[in-house]
Amino acid sequence: MGTRRAGFGLTITNGNASVTGSSNLNFSRSNAGILKDRANMSFMLVIMFFAVFGLIVLTEIFLIDERRGINGRTNVHGGSHPNSLHRLVPMPDRPDYEEVAGDFADEYISFKAVSIVARLRASPTNRIHIQNRPQDRPVERQNLAICVKPLHFNYNRVLQLVEFIELYKILGANHVILYNDTIGDETGCTLEYYEKTRGLVSLLPWHGLDMISQREIRTEALFAALNDCLYRSMYKYEYVALVDLDEFIIPRHNDTIIQLIRWMTSRISSKSTSALSFQNAFFYLQWPDDPLITIAKSPTQAGLVTLRKTRRRLKLHPHKQRSKYICKPRDIVEAGNHFVWEFLAGHGTLNVPSDAAILHHYRVCEFGGDDCVKTPSVVDKTAYKYKKQLTNDVDESWLELGKICRLPQLEPISRQLPERRRHPLFKPNSLLNDMKTQRYSVDFLTNPSRIV
Ligand SMILES: *[C@@H]1O[C@H](CO)[C@@H](O)[C@H](O)[C@H]1NC(C)=O
Ligand SMILES: *[C@@H]1O[C@H](CO)[C@@H](O)[C@H](O)[C@H]1NC(C)=O
Repeated sequence: MGTRRAGFGLTITNGNASVTGSSNLNFSRSNAGILKDRANMSFMLVIMFFAVFGLIVLTEIFLIDERRGINGRTNVHGGSHPNSLHRLVPMPDRPDYEEVAGDFADEYISFKAVSIVARLRASPTNRIHIQNRPQDRPVERQNLAICVKPLHFNYNRVLQLVEFIELYKILGANHVILYNDTIGDETGCTLEYYEKTRGLVSLLPWHGLDMISQREIRTEALFAALNDCLYRSMYKYEYVALVDLDEFIIPRHNDTIIQLIRWMTSRISSKSTSALSFQNAFFYLQWPDDPLITIAKSPTQAGLVTLRKTRRRLKLHPHKQRSKYICKPRDIVEAGNHFVWEFLAGHGTLNVPSDAAILHHYRVCEFGGDDCVKTPSVVDKTAYKYKKQLTNDVDESWLELGKICRLPQLEPISRQLPERRRHPLFKPNSLLNDMKTQRYSVDFLTNPSRIV
């Protein structure tokens, strides 16, 4: 931080130096030249005055518009997020609100419900039950829960889901919480197995929300789900991680996330540390598979993205940009996607150094196309320390699941050529589920001259 600030100061000094230099030039000019310059300058000043005036008027008009927008809606978030345009539908009147009002006489601890009203002393017309009341809270807290944003578009990548649950279990997670907007039958069956038989997962309904567009589902509902998960797990888990299905927080030296947290927070004052941020590392799926996958022992192992993709972008994103975090939910007021939006007073985030742990993010190029594969990269096999256990656990669950669910056919293991002989843009047997690419890869194996 210190170095960066110093660098900034230097730039400003340079700027001053150049300004002084150019004004010195004026001394060598003639009188007439100076007069002409002054006339030009006055003209410029007048123009600038009008420009600034116009700008102020425009800004004012814009601000008034925005203020009207904020006042015109029910202020759930205290107006702190101007983007959160909620379309609240008024609840139908319920006859039982007096029951709620009756509770006000009792102690705080006996509150059972709250009502959200438009103004003070308005009659309550809705009733929201308070969850996690002190007497309902578990005495013992478990270590870590994982919150995943709602699954959309008939999500049905079963092996990805199984890998996610099994790897986070190995990493020390006690529970995974997911939201069902729309999921495929195979995914539904798989999640029911993990929920009912294994007790590892909670699948919560998320379908039929009052949303205007798909875009809103991706943006607004995301934060609703993250915060629902945060508050839901607040008293059950010491820590909560909010990640997507293609993201894994992988410690470098420690085996589990909990060991990492204990180690990190033992070195730094842990009382105010209520979140740990992890830098994002893209493992682009277009990069070739790890050569070891060609000798995978089973199609399930060959399909595990954390083993299959070992090349990552050399440059990590800075904290807060695409980073993800693990937090102590009781110290958080409002969760964001990449960082905590609001802490309780006196709490903050610890930026975990990238040599301790990073976020492995397995996806295609973020701006479309395949150009991202040209960015400098390194091979990172940190995830291989989980290879044996992950393979065993996934194989075992896959076998169990096969007895009760219809599972997708896995791609056969491709005994492909070593990485260096392939074209950099070539995506054999890729995880993109692209049939054309699949055939291309077979062609390539029988006739290598077709490439390059
Ligand atoms: C997921 O949600 C859909 C839509 O509401 C529902 O029909 C389906 O039964 C749910 N699946 C599971 C496994 O809960
Ligand atoms: C976690 O990693 C650090 C750094 O290598 C190490 O000092 C510490 O003992 C590890 N903790 C555990 C429980 O393995």
